[in-house]
Amino acid sequence: MSVQIGDTAPDFVQESTEGPIHFHDWIGDSWVILFSHPKDFTPVCTTELGAVAKLKPEFDKRNVKPIGLSVDPLTHHGDWSKDIEETQGAALNFPLIADADRKVADLYGMIHPNADNTMTVRSVFVIGPDKKVKLTLTYPASTGRNFQEILRVIDSLQLTSKHKLATPADWKPGDDVIITPAVSNEEADKIFPGYKTIKPYLRTTSQPSS
Ligand code: BEZ
Repeated sequence: MSVQIGDTAPDFVQESTEGPIHFHDWIGDSWVILFSHPKDFTPVCTTELGAVAKLKPEFDKRNVKPIGLSVDPLTHHGDWSKDIEETQGAALNFPLIADADRKVADLYGMIHPNADNTMTVRSVFVIGPDKKVKLTLTYPASTGRNFQEILRVIDSLQLTSKHKLATPADWKPGDDVIITPAVSNEEADKIFPGYKTIKPYLRTTSQPSS
């Protein structure tokens, strides 16, 4: 069974570049992006980990902790991290899980045998402080992820966890947002005064400031 949106993120204890990770304890009150990469010392993965290291201040602003994973041993992670710093201009500033025994990869369904039987695909799990899975994404080994898009999704997830709102296609922070169908017009008048009705089922309002 794959891990699905709404599930409690499977808990685990596994080695990482920052010591053993007791996953649920490590999450604490933060949001988390858990992402797998296929293999250490490979080109696309090198650029991805550099990209996440550079975006760390943006994750911090949103109270999101990044954590990477591959089914490589800790010694490989250590040696490879020097290459990441040298070639990407950013040192690793978040833990990388060394999942050599595939414990976490199997728990989360990160190995897709018909794609490759030995490496993880590029999985992404965004997990909330309630330990529930909020988003899953799967990319093949050949395509590096767009971490700006992942930040954008996190902005939407955090906004819609606080308000009875949804975000439209291609939404960016600051754009108008959608009032969810569960909100009656009477309630919408109170919570979102001045909202627009484009169709009875399509009502928009400006993004709340907090
Ligand atoms: C890469 O990160 O470049 C990569 C890893 C595994 C297969 C293909 C590409």
